[in-house]
Amino acid sequence: MFNRLLATFALGLRLTPLQARGRRNALDLRRVEIEVALPRLPPSFDGYRILQISDTHLDVLPELVDAARRVLAGVEVDLLALTGDIHGSPSAPIAYSVDLLMQALQDVRVHGPRLAVLGNHDPVEMAALLEDSGFDVLVNRSRVLERGGGRLRVTGLDDVHNFYTDAARTALNDYGDDRDGECRIALVHSAEMADVADEAGCAFYLSGHTHGGQICLPGGKPVITQLTRCRHAAAGLWRQGRMAGYTSAGLGVAEPAVRFNCRGEVTIITLRRA
Ligand SMILES: [Fe+2]
Repeated sequence: MFNRLLATFALGLRLTPLQARGRRNALDLRRVEIEVALPRLPPSFDGYRILQISDTHLDVLPELVDAARRVLAGVEVDLLALTGDIHGSPSAPIAYSVDLLMQALQDVRVHGPRLAVLGNHDPVEMAALLEDSGFDVLVNRSRVLERGGGRLRVTGLDDVHNFYTDAARTALNDYGDDRDGECRIALVHSAEMADVADEAGCAFYLSGHTHGGQICLPGGKPVITQLTRCRHAAAGLWRQGRMAGYTSAGLGVAEPAVRFNCRGEVTIITLRRA
């Protein structure tokens, strides 16, 4: 029902001048820079910079590659975190989406790892393509980052919106024998595991999936969040218990390829010691 309504809306939109305006809006990306203070962050990670890119869907609107390159020009970070939905249309080859993504990231300097999680639009074959392109794809597993004697555990989940399994919960609770000592970050396409991640002791949660609403009311209120739970975490900075979180509005768009009252973004997060 929802998909039929969306298709009807997209068809109607094509007949109006709003289509061109919405497309221009979709190409008008912004660079968001935030600082997040985390308890238990090792001193060596104070000032650590993460570039989060989410929901690129570049096969849907390939013109976004140039817009992304412009907004990313000169960006230098310690970690690249790709939070899913690299692909968009089921009729496009997934290699096309990855190729466009790599073009968009061409001028970014990443000193440390490139980590990725899959989104609900990414078939499982996407993992191998991303690995071939230099990403470490975290499917319900963690990677420990070390810097100056300090450790930061990053746990990435498979998409939980369409493909939830108990392995997601297990991965969040796999913190070795240092539950209270280690600072942990969750990378999950959707914010729908925020409460579980907080209970598991994560300090920070990075997600996308909602596109910030993509088509919002004046003032930026989303009409649709695509979240079935944890709706308070639909956009921007939020808190869940003791955990901080950020939900990116995404770089790209789903069909219809327009944005209203909601700009696409790339996000640079600087970690600070709380
Ligand atoms: Fe998406």
